[in-house]
Amino acid sequence: MPDQWRSDELVFFVNGRKVIERDVDPEVTLLTFLRKNLGLTGTKDACGRGGCGACTVMVSRCDPVSKEIRHFSITACLVPICSLYGAAVTTVEGVGSMKTKLHPVQERIAKSHGTQCGFCTPGMVMSTYTLLRNHPQPSEEQLMEALGGNLCRCTGYRPILDGGKTFCTESNGCQQKGTGKCCLDQGEEDSSSRGRNGDISTELFTKDRFQPLDPTQELIFPPALLRMAENPEKRTLTFRGERVTWISPGTLKDLLELKTKYPEAPLVLGNTSLGPAMRSQGHFHPVLLSPARISELSIVSTTSEGLTIGAGCSLAQVKDILAERVSELPEEKTETYQALLKHLQSLAGQQIRNLASLGGHVMSRHCYSDLNPILAVGNATLNLISKEGMRQIPLNEHFLAGLPRADLKPEEILQSVYIPHSQKWEFVSAFRQGQCQQNALADVNAGMRVLFKEGTDTVHDLSVAYGGVGVATISAHRTCQQLQGRCWNELMLEEACRLLLDEVSLPGSAPGGRVEFKRTLVVSFFFKFYLEVLQKLKKLVRLSSDYLGSPEVSDLFLSALEDFPVTVPQGVQTYQRVAPCQPLQDPVGRPIMHLSGLKHTTGEAMFCGDIPRLDRELAMALVTSARAHAKIISIDFSKALKLPGVVDVITAKDIPGTNGAEDSKILAVDEVLCVGHIICAVVAETDVQAKRAIEKVKITYEDLEPIIFTVEDAIKHNSFLCPEKKLEQGNIEEAFGKVDQIIEGEVHIGGQEHFYMETQRVLVIPKRGDQELDIHVSTQDPAHVQKTVSSTLNIPINKITCHVKQVGGGFGGKIGRPAILGAIAAVGAIKTGHPIRLVLDREEDMLITGGRHPLFGKYKVGFMKDGRIEALDIECFINGGCTPEDSEAVAEFLLLKLENAYKIQNLRFRGRACMTNLASNTSFRGFGFPQGILVIESCITAVATKCGLLPEKVREKNMYKTVDKAIYKQEFNPEPLIRCWNECLDKSSFHSRRTQVEEFNKKNYWKKKGIAVIPMKFSVGFTATSYHQAAALVHIYTDGSVLVTQGGNELGQGIHTKILQVASRELKIPMSYIHISETSTATVPNTIATAASIGSDVNGRAVQDACQILLKRLEPIIKEHPEGTWEDWIKTAFEQSISLSATGFFRGYKAFMDWEKGEGEPFPYYIYGAACSEVEIDCLTGAHKKIRTDIVMEACSSLNPAIDVGQVEGAFIQGMGLYTTEELRYSPEGVLYSQGPDEYKIPTVTDVPGEFNVSLLPSSPNPLTIYSSKGLGESGVALGSSVFLAIADAVATARRDRDVAEDFPVESPATPEWVRMACADRFTEMIPRDDPKTFKPWSIPVA
Ligand SMILES: Cc1cc2nc3c(=O)[nH]c(=O)nc-3n(C[C@H](O)[C@H](O)[C@H](O)COP(=O)(O)OP(=O)(O)OC[C@H]3O[C@@H](n4cnc5c(N)ncnc54)[C@H](O)[C@@H]3O)c2cc1C
Ligand code: FES
Ligand code: FES
Repeated sequence: MPDQWRSDELVFFVNGRKVIERDVDPEVTLLTFLRKNLGLTGTKDACGRGGCGACTVMVSRCDPVSKEIRHFSITACLVPICSLYGAAVTTVEGVGSMKTKLHPVQERIAKSHGTQCGFCTPGMVMSTYTLLRNHPQPSEEQLMEALGGNLCRCTGYRPILDGGKTFCTESNGCQQKGTGKCCLDQGEEDSSSRGRNGDISTELFTKDRFQPLDPTQELIFPPALLRMAENPEKRTLTFRGERVTWISPGTLKDLLELKTKYPEAPLVLGNTSLGPAMRSQGHFHPVLLSPARISELSIVSTTSEGLTIGAGCSLAQVKDILAERVSELPEEKTETYQALLKHLQSLAGQQIRNLASLGGHVMSRHCYSDLNPILAVGNATLNLISKEGMRQIPLNEHFLAGLPRADLKPEEILQSVYIPHSQKWEFVSAFRQGQCQQNALADVNAGMRVLFKEGTDTVHDLSVAYGGVGVATISAHRTCQQLQGRCWNELMLEEACRLLLDEVSLPGSAPGGRVEFKRTLVVSFFFKFYLEVLQKLKKLVRLSSDYLGSPEVSDLFLSALEDFPVTVPQGVQTYQRVAPCQPLQDPVGRPIMHLSGLKHTTGEAMFCGDIPRLDRELAMALVTSARAHAKIISIDFSKALKLPGVVDVITAKDIPGTNGAEDSKILAVDEVLCVGHIICAVVAETDVQAKRAIEKVKITYEDLEPIIFTVEDAIKHNSFLCPEKKLEQGNIEEAFGKVDQIIEGEVHIGGQEHFYMETQRVLVIPKRGDQELDIHVSTQDPAHVQKTVSSTLNIPINKITCHVKQVGGGFGGKIGRPAILGAIAAVGAIKTGHPIRLVLDREEDMLITGGRHPLFGKYKVGFMKDGRIEALDIECFINGGCTPEDSEAVAEFLLLKLENAYKIQNLRFRGRACMTNLASNTSFRGFGFPQGILVIESCITAVATKCGLLPEKVREKNMYKTVDKAIYKQEFNPEPLIRCWNECLDKSSFHSRRTQVEEFNKKNYWKKKGIAVIPMKFSVGFTATSYHQAAALVHIYTDGSVLVTQGGNELGQGIHTKILQVASRELKIPMSYIHISETSTATVPNTIATAASIGSDVNGRAVQDACQILLKRLEPIIKEHPEGTWEDWIKTAFEQSISLSATGFFRGYKAFMDWEKGEGEPFPYYIYGAACSEVEIDCLTGAHKKIRTDIVMEACSSLNPAIDVGQVEGAFIQGMGLYTTEELRYSPEGVLYSQGPDEYKIPTVTDVPGEFNVSLLPSSPNPLTIYSSKGLGESGVALGSSVFLAIADAVATARRDRDVAEDFPVESPATPEWVRMACADRFTEMIPRDDPKTFKPWSIPVA
């Protein structure tokens, strides 16, 4: 082989084992390598672009200069395998395992109930583990920081933190601890009351039995790598792949030579900018240069004037370096460093900060860069180097805009960045506002610096730079020049705002949208800067006698200055203990750990995508529509078929049976109905080949009319998926005639993406001979997959077996869609005769699958002066998307649940599902109620405002109080509702906190607090008896072990754990005797979707039935040998030919609904609850901080309080996301912009309320359900609306202060944009507004 084609050996270690790769492909990431080449599937793939942390692993390197070993967490999905030369990688499998020894991190996260579906868990373990490798006794703040880049969609983070906190040094915790006001004190009170009552517990796990952390037991850094570090290879290493060559020079000289030879080749450092661009924007680079081994790029040096940081330093290192300088230097010299530190705190998550380099950050020149605006105003200089020598250029607006006169020559690289010290009379500040405070790209950020003439408040020099408001970081150069020589006062401020708005102009159609918000931030940030500088001047004046004086900041306005700190959530979870007389062995009612907890934390849990590659397996990728509504003129896949590895293309013509229903085809035939509509699928040898091939399929379209995206347009075009649904009681028209007042209002609620951490995936295995198929699928409804595949292939159901082991989160999103994907993959499997695996990546998943329905609601409410509501008329429209799916049912449930906890004599609810050209919306936890509750609660708030009453008073006045009938005439007793409400008011000290909030608001103009408490009546189950049926199959084997199979799927909600608790109680044997392997259509047929909060309940009943049958058969033997063991009895039973296998069946709860009459008994039972939330908002930026939430939920007799608390908390946090940060944004052409964690923000660990208390309220028995338990899977979502209402409460106060109308449009989510614009003030007034008719907006609202 000629030399230029030869590839070097890539040497690195994984979990202590040496890996030598001879033909490594530079395009392969560490994640792919671990999962596919090494079979280490513990590391998960959930987004592929560094945004979720599921793929976190630890990398250790020996610093060639200091010889220190550094451990850092990284996201494996962004790390090119070639960058690992000389590194040691530790994955979750290397930390500990169930087979060998668990690591304390794995043990504690599992036992503190920190896992539900377990898909995020290996990442959580690795982030915590890395923290402990660096800090064996971290602070709680360090733990928060370590977990900031890890998303979890199930748990709500509290239990994960609880597990992590067991390693922490005593934290400062809540400032109020010990005063009696802190939740922890309440917990202590509870423990003492436990002593008295003995029935209430606040402990979900015990720490005593945890094994200690012993740092000496950790994997050592491989000596071979130490040796490599001591004698670093100076030779250039080259790794050649099929399309890309990776070159890693050993010296700076070689790097510069190479950069001259390959001027277009990028330098790969962290790959956090290049990687995502190559993945999502199709950027391709045939040559990549890696400067990782060039020590000159990591040099840090200081002078008396400033600091020079090597371009190769990671942002995490930059943070440490700056922190050190700040601690060493006098404060006046560190203004720029402190501003940089402030942004480094919130920039991405820890893993990204560990990867991303300063050089990569600066050179990427992203318009959203958090550091560049500060570096620019701080007069930083770039030290460039090339073969020709070195030169310096200023890091200014010319450089940031990429202007030729400032730009780099192609052969130049950045060696280091010089950041000068600030000086006396110089002040630097940094500002940013994104969708949330942490780990979210900024909508707008800014760096601002002012230098005063010594001893005066006269501006000598001013620099202001903004990010997010243009294609690059921009400098307000003109404004700054014009303000030179001006005094720092209100007049200057006025002038500055006017000039800034003129200079930093944003067109109405600017990319990224949120134009008016951004304009407002431009001036709001400057106002904050103005105040900050005034404060600093005030401080300086105390030190300097020659200062001339400037205006003081009034105390009322001081609140503009502080940013919300990140707080470590604290809280108490309260539940009822089991009765002391309950046998110890009986697990029912105890906080048993999730059955798969340890498998989750060790990465041993096997998800669908973790099944090892099968012999002859092929990969499938989907071709989807780029148009919203169009005729397909032609599909040309000839080019795709010619690509290497491509086997076939599957179109509708290949479907042997039915192609779905007429109005919802599985594969599009001649018309597409939304962007993302599946048209055909490519089958290839590998997923990479299949993905490349879909790019080559050419579809020609002809647009069709109408194209409808919004509810408004659907109404205009009379475009609906179902007839109007209606419920009515009393005489609404007559009642409106008798009331004191009537108001009308509107509520707009955006949709929600399920964002289950495990994307949709399926593996179809054709069996030779009998046209049989085995399907492994991530679904909530395997029977539906089975049926759909059967009709698509036209083969009987009995030839198809679906297997579900565990699902990485579903939340309703894996009921309908897996059947479609399963059917397409099955067509491919039958056509090719090969096993087919179809795994959606995050972008595809978000594009193709719909989510929660956006809603537009109108209400008209008639009420008396005392707040009593006499008449309420609500009309709701939900945006159903392009096919019917579950939209009609969602519209029905929405109406059935809409009254929430209120008795209103005269009611009319109407609802319709609109048909639009968006992806079909579908089931989502809560099924219409989370939208409905916000409509009715907003209406109640509006009534309260009009009456001048507090909303909680109006709520109380209108609540159900005695046995009554719901609007559909089903009788119920609201006694638990009242108890939940009262307990919630009591536990949250609501009334005194309401007073404190009012006091706070009087004293603060720019920050406002809000508080809200809401009651909840949530109906559980489906509206038909047949949907509550369930079956089970229980086998006892001759060794006494028991295998249980039932119809419910493990989605993370702990159904398997609860089922084993049931079987254990019934059979009177320990849980360790019993096993659940999977849910399979071959063992339990005709199952119902695991949904509607009722899965554990009905399947538990079926298992109970089977166990009772078996026990009955064993009874004579037990009676005869009461002293015998379980094993003896089973042995005897076998010898006596007694069947040790039984099916159990539960016919289902009675439920029906007659929509003609508007009457029925649609629900088996209700869940009652109440939640109180308190928030603080920043009126200038729209940011908010969740201060505290208290939830009281009626649980009757919980089957497993740890699981139930977990469900309540997880659902609440998911709801909080719905109502605050999760915003789906669509282009005017119907393309979903929010296709990943960068654009779509689900709550992170830093979003959890600072104090979060959950109480499961014991109540009167519920004889209907298994052991009197209740299904708590969904109801908590709706309680998240208390956060929205608290934010709205704060906004209303701000508006009152500013004398603007108190009513404002209710639009969920309460994003910073909504909050800021609702807090109207002089800054919102001064921004230019565009006539909507004059421009095309970047995004459109669809509700
Ligand atoms: C999940 C996620 C969240 C993020 N959040 C934020 C955020 O909140 N705020 C924010 O500001 N940014 C954020 N970022 C962006 C991040 O800061 C940048 O991607 C990162 O700093 C780029 O550094 P890198 O080392 O990874 O660059 P790479 O991707 O390795 O390289 C980027 C570019 O820089 C060039 N380059 C690198 N080094 C040199 C050099 N020495 N000389 C010449 N050219 C060079 C390369 O040629 C390449 O073109 C986020 C990124 C991710 C993935
Ligand atoms: S999969 Fe790597 S961060 Fe999400
Ligand atoms: S347990 Fe965290 S995503 Fe499911």
